Amino acid sequence: MTDKELVARSVEAQARAYAPYSGFKVGAALLCQSGDTFTGCNIENAAYGSTNCAERTAIFKAVSEGFTEFSAIAITSSGGKLTFPCGSCLQVMAEFSPSLRVILCEDGKPPVCHPLKELMPYAFRL
Ligand code: THU
Repeated sequence: MTDKELVARSVEAQARAYAPYSGFKVGAALLCQSGDTFTGCNIENAAYGSTNCAERTAIFKAVSEGFTEFSAIAITSSGGKLTFPCGSCLQVMAEFSPSLRVILCEDGKPPVCHPLKELMPYAFRL
């Protein structure tokens, strides 16, 4: 799967975002080392703290299906500026794939790619 295809899947996932409170829709598409892909969107809740980010939705879907090794995640948002994953999502990414490539995409502009190591150089580890 190319980066372009992965980004296209994240755009599809963004359309399924449940974001009635913030109006900020995020989609993610996760590429496993096996070649399988999982998508996710943000899922908000009236109890705001119960909201789940798009990235973690995709990762939790994958892990719950037995996939724990990932090579890339594409994230699409439309806030008018490039959105980086929140600290909780970076920590969850680092748990599974420290060498993950994080592809960020916003409003149809060319995607930019960062190694997870650059975004989260000192993840918490036990
Ligand atoms: N959000 C994500 O889906 N991913 C992030 O990395 C940061 C924030 C969502 C959560 C919430 O639904 C909305 O964006 C505003 O915070």
